[in-house]
Parts: sequence; C-alpha cells; structure tokens
Amino acid sequence: MILRTIPVSAPHRARIAVCADFHSVNRPMPVERALRLLRDASPDMILFPGDIFLDTGRFGLRDCFNQNGLALIEEAAGIASCFFTTGNHEMGLSVENRRILENAGIRVLMNESVRMGPFTVGGLASGFERPQSRRLPSPPPDTDFIPRFAAEEGYHVLLCHHPEYWPLYIAGRGVELTAAGHAHGGQWRFFGHGIFAPGQGFLPPYTSGLYRQDSSALAVSRGMTNSVRWVPRLFNPCEILLLDLSPEAES
Ligand SMILES: [Fe+2]
Repeated sequence: MILRTIPVSAPHRARIAVCADFHSVNRPMPVERALRLLRDASPDMILFPGDIFLDTGRFGLRDCFNQNGLALIEEAAGIASCFFTTGNHEMGLSVENRRILENAGIRVLMNESVRMGPFTVGGLASGFERPQSRRLPSPPPDTDFIPRFAAEEGYHVLLCHHPEYWPLYIAGRGVELTAAGHAHGGQWRFFGHGIFAPGQGFLPPYTSGLYRQDSSALAVSRGMTNSVRWVPRLFNPCEILLLDLSPEAES
C-alpha cells in the first residue's frame, strides 16, 4: 500500500486522505501499514467512502469479518476528523453498527452532511443500501440528496463510493469535490488505463486519480487492498490517496 498525493485546486487549503475499499481484510498488516501512512501524512480529514466493512446489515462491526476494519477506523479517528458512507459491500448499515462508528468519533453520512470550517462534507450512500435494488449495474442512489447538499453553503466535499454515479448524478451540479473508490484501479492497469471495474465494465473511464468536468472534480482511489483475491492486481498498487487542496494547485 502506498500513499499517493494529488494536488487539487481549491479556494481553501486542506489535506484530505481518502481511504476506500479496505474490505476488512483478515490480516493485521494492512491496518498497521495504513495507520503509519496516515500518521505520516497528518491529514486534516480522513474520508472513508465505502467498502471498509462487509455486510454491515448482517454482521456486527466487532465480528471477525469486520474487526480489522473497525480497528483501522477507530485508530484513524485519533489522527484526524473522520467521515464514512457506505459502499456496495456494506449493504444495510444497521443501527447498532452506526452507533459503534459514532461512538468511535466517526461522522456517519448516509445522505447527510456536516459543516467543517469552510467545507461542507456530505455522504451519498450506495444505491445497494436500498433492499429493493440489489442488482447490477449499480442501482441509483438517493438522487434527491445531491441538490439538497449542493444548496448548502461552503466548499462541498462528497463521499460517494461509486465513481460511475459522478457523471450521472453529481458532475456539474454544484458539488466541487467527490471522493470515490469501488473501481479497484481497474484491477490490471496498462498504459495508464484500468481493464475492468464493477459498475463500469471493461475499459472503465473512472478508475484512478483526478477527473474534472466544469467546476466539479472526482478523485478515485485505487483501493487499499485486493478484494478480488483470485485475480492479482497488475501495475496497480493499493493506495491511500492524499488530496492536497490549495489555491495554488493547478489540477
Ligand atoms: Fe465497491
């Protein structure tokens, strides 16, 4: 796992870490490595835009399936302000699990937002949260949330697990910066392009780094662990993204 820094042009200065697709691996090593990278980076905010845990409607966060994800997020809360929304693998965040996260100091954002200095941080929950919508391609999220969120004051930072939602529901609608995961970098990368991503199919357009449309930007993390264990990642290291926002940045 590496730390990859991307400068982002923004009116305010901030360092934002994006931790996506941890998939609560049952090995302690990635937890320690991720925490070391986060401590060294010293971010102002840490965003967890989904797939940190597994099946949080059925399993508790203290169950063996999820305990490494919980260890990561609890320790991260001691490093910076932490924000979380669900990905497709969380599917139905239970009230008890939400309470565990909130007691650890995590802001849980399920189509909700909070103000933090000049920033308004929101979370668009995965469409897979909706029990009637567990199907492929990715079911739509609560699209009413986006105009509500965009109408709030401040520079908008949105956690949204699915990058494929961005061109459909978010870009050009008043949300300045969106942080996503889910694409796993396209699993294999050749000549700077991913090969396959869930929700986007073959030769997916949004797999890694920063994308811009008008005044909207999308940052896509390649993910923290390999969730598809029987398919190795090629030329596609696991990562934590570090977004360095400043007025001087050019991207
Ligand atoms: Fe995902």
